Amino acid sequence: MIWNRPHLLDIESLSPEEIIAVLDTARQFKAVGERAIKKVPALRGKTVVNLFVEPSTRTRISFELAAIRLSADVINFGAEASSLKKGETLKDTARNLEALNADIIIIRHSATGAPHFLSRVVNAHIVNAGDGAHEHPTQALLDTFTIREHKGKIAGLNVTILGDILYSRVARSNIWALLKLGAKVTLCGPSTLVPRVFEQMGCRVTYNVEEAIAGADVINLLRIQHERQRKTMFPSIGEYTALFGLNHARFAKTKPDVLIMHPGPINRGVEIASDLADCGRSVILEQVTNGLAIRMAVLYLINGGTAAPEPGGLN
Ligand code: CP
Repeated sequence: MIWNRPHLLDIESLSPEEIIAVLDTARQFKAVGERAIKKVPALRGKTVVNLFVEPSTRTRISFELAAIRLSADVINFGAEASSLKKGETLKDTARNLEALNADIIIIRHSATGAPHFLSRVVNAHIVNAGDGAHEHPTQALLDTFTIREHKGKIAGLNVTILGDILYSRVARSNIWALLKLGAKVTLCGPSTLVPRVFEQMGCRVTYNVEEAIAGADVINLLRIQHERQRKTMFPSIGEYTALFGLNHARFAKTKPDVLIMHPGPINRGVEIASDLADCGRSVILEQVTNGLAIRMAVLYLINGGTAAPEPGGLN
C-alpha cells in the first residue's frame, strides 16, 4: 500500500494507488466505528484545528468527530468570531495556530489554492476541506468509497454527475477520482454550467438529461451553487427543475440498481424530488456515514500511519 504525503490538498495529484490506499484504510476505520469502543489512540497528543472560513455541516462535523475518534485534541475555529474579521491574514492566522502547537490544520476557504498556500507557509499537515470551486478531495474519496461498497468496483461503471459542474469543487474532485479509477463519467446540466472543456479531461458531456441517466450505474446530483455564481446561469429554478431535476418520470427510466447520490446540502424539489432523496436507491446518508471513516483515514495517513493496517493494527 502506498501513502507518503504530509498533506491532502487535492485529488488531481494523487495516483490511483494512493486513492485506493485511502479507501482501503477507511474500510478499517469503518469497522472501528462499528465496535462498542469507537476510539483508537492513533493521534493521541496531536492537535487538530478545523479552520473553516466558509459554512459547513457535514465536512466540519465529521472532521471533528474523526479527530476525536483518533484521540486528538480538536479546536474548532469559526472565522466569524476570529481576528480574520479584523483583517488578520490567512498566513498569520495559520502561523499563530501553529505557535499553539497545531499539528494538523483542516481548511475550508472560498479562495482556490488556500490549502496549497498554507502547505507552503506552515509546517503543520494541511487537509483541504473545500477550496472555492477547485477541489473537495475528501468528498470525492467518500463518494468513491460509497460506490465501491455498493458495486464492488469503480472501473467500468457509468457515473453521471448532474447539475452545476462549473462551480462545483465536488464535481472536479469526483471527476479526477473516478477517471483515475477507470469509471466512465458523464456530465449533464445547463450548457452555461457544463462547458465542453470537460471533454478534454475524458468526460462525456450531454445536455439531454434522459440520455445522461439512461444506463447510469450511479447518478450524483449536485446543488446549484448560487453563492459562487457571478450571475444567474439559467432563467429560473423552476426551469432548471423541469429540464434537469430528477423526478419520478425520469427515475422510472433508470437502471433498477442505480445509486442516487448527493453531497448535500440538498435543495429538495429542485435537483431531486424530495421523496426520491429518501428512497431505497438513495445512499445520501450513507455518504455522510462513510465521510467519517474517510476523514479518519486521511488524518491517520497524513500523520504517518500505515495504509490499510491489519484489523487490530490501529490499537
Ligand atoms: N458536502 C459538503 O461539503 O457538505 P457541507 O458543506 O455541509 O460540509
